[in-house]
Amino acid sequence: MNKNKIENAKKLLRSGELVIFPTETVYGLGANANDKNAVKKIYNIKKRPAYNPIICHFANIEEVKKNFHLNKLEELLAKKLWPGPITLILKKRNNSKISKLVSNNSAYVGCRIPNNQIALQLLKNLYFPLAAPSANFSERTSVTRFEDLEKKLIKKIFTIKGEQSKLGLESTVIKVKKNNIELLRLGSITANDILKVASKSKIKFITNSKISPGNLKKHYATKKKIRINVKKIKDDEGLINFGKNNLRSKIINLNLSKKGNLKEASKNLFHFLHKLDKSKCKKIAIAPIPKIELGLTINDRIKRASKK
Ligand code: TXA
Ligand code: MG
Repeated sequence: MNKNKIENAKKLLRSGELVIFPTETVYGLGANANDKNAVKKIYNIKKRPAYNPIICHFANIEEVKKNFHLNKLEELLAKKLWPGPITLILKKRNNSKISKLVSNNSAYVGCRIPNNQIALQLLKNLYFPLAAPSANFSERTSVTRFEDLEKKLIKKIFTIKGEQSKLGLESTVIKVKKNNIELLRLGSITANDILKVASKSKIKFITNSKISPGNLKKHYATKKKIRINVKKIKDDEGLINFGKNNLRSKIINLNLSKKGNLKEASKNLFHFLHKLDKSKCKKIAIAPIPKIELGLTINDRIKRASKK
């Protein structure tokens, strides 16, 4: 693996600089979460509004527990689903050094342990969590492949290249309320996956933008206009298809999953959006995608991406 690169990245992070690194969901733009000046740099470079909090990434559960108190259900979810694409909103301990900037002054901070070897190596022996949003400009499409990263970002920020993100959709964000769970952002872990672990709990979907500020209506946007649930393709549109059907673009045809597999589709989605943005088509058309399991997350992303 990129051993030297990871050591260099750690040095930069320790001196308050930013680093772009791969995770199993999307690339992250990381900074020392305890250093308010470093965290400020993230908001500035992403042009991200301060009210939209940032997820903290940890090397292991012990590091999480130094900063947060976990109740029984939180501990169960953490043990079963980490490392992995689930973000738990946890309450900070009074002695935590995590900057208030990551959570817009709230004591409730989003936490996760990523399931990616480079990310885990980077976090190991760092002795502070990494505040890391997705490595894209605010409102723009997240990135799952090195080649899709904004040139303006990688010119300025030290970047560790990884394989294509295994999952391709961001983490699912949840908050435990006593014995039940509020789901704030749909993601790579489905509600059913969570219920398999928390079998006695109920899940309430709260994906409005007041409680989960990241759920802004416009998000994940491409430069080109997107139409979703299309039945016919227009002459100037490139197509992102799903499964087998008669849809066809005259310019460019991509298929998220010919077999109709939602996992495969999730992995391909953001890369295909970037690809069509760079291609010859004027606009982007996306075929209907089943609104079940991971398809719910895919539909959430393309719906927001299609907002003007
Ligand atoms: O998979 C992921 O989660 C990726 C990788 C890099 O870990 N990160 C990511 O970060 O998607 P970002 O900043 O693009 O999205 C974070 C989401 C936002 O919707 C934000 O509002 C929500 O998590 N969030 C973070 N902290 C929160 C908090 N304390 N309370 C409520 N929502 C929070
Ligand atoms: Mg994001």
